[in-house]
Amino acid sequence: MFLKDVIIEANRELKPGNFLLSFRDSEIAGESKIGQFLELKAGSGNENLLRKPISINDVDGDLVTIIYRVVGKGTDRLSQYKKGDTFSVLGPLGNSFPVIKDKEVLIVAGGIGCGPFSYVMRTLPNWKIFYGMKDACEFLLEDELKAHEKSGKAFITTDNGSYGDKGFVTQKLENYIKENGTDKVIFACGPEVMMKAVGNIAIKYSMEAYLSLEEYMGCGIGACVGCVKKIKNPSKKDGWEYKKVCKDGPIFRADEVIWE
Ligand code: FES
Repeated sequence: MFLKDVIIEANRELKPGNFLLSFRDSEIAGESKIGQFLELKAGSGNENLLRKPISINDVDGDLVTIIYRVVGKGTDRLSQYKKGDTFSVLGPLGNSFPVIKDKEVLIVAGGIGCGPFSYVMRTLPNWKIFYGMKDACEFLLEDELKAHEKSGKAFITTDNGSYGDKGFVTQKLENYIKENGTDKVIFACGPEVMMKAVGNIAIKYSMEAYLSLEEYMGCGIGACVGCVKKIKNPSKKDGWEYKKVCKDGPIFRADEVIWE
């Protein structure tokens, strides 16, 4: 884990309010694993003291890419930065998706939940991606996913039918599993309702599945206990315990998450 100021290589608006930012750093790139995240701080001194957790989208050589949505002062400030500006990065943080080479990985992403998956798609040998959004105007990683769609590796849905199949991405996932079998591993990241549905599908078909959970984070390094989730643990009296999304996660097995 490193704490350093990095120099922005590019900071491009993909869709209104959603940006793709890249910077070069051989140490952070060298330590980053699929599914990990960075804690970012834009602004100097006491400005925007709380860091913002953002998934690592891709790592290519020393180039690190993230996708972020403007949701507050810190990300708004970051969105105004240009090539050559610096900001503070802490990371890489959290656990990672397993490196699966002997099975097909079914990636399920909703909206900005596509964030962690360019790195997964570029480094794992065998995968399909199921990407869902409300409306085509929210289509992130559009060029990349359309190219994968052409080669039969991406399945895209919108809630309103404005691109791809109309409906939920989880239905597309379940249809694919019914037609192609269950000997696969699921990775998912997206809104909670989608993650619960993915978890239920994994349990229904007895499949190995890993969910990248989102939670409000204060410190990002396990110190503030502001990011806990109920996770099953049969050895505990109640059969569960609180785990920290930032330190024990953000990735948990679907069959161990307790949804509330
Ligand atoms: Fe502080 Fe997880 S964010 S413990």
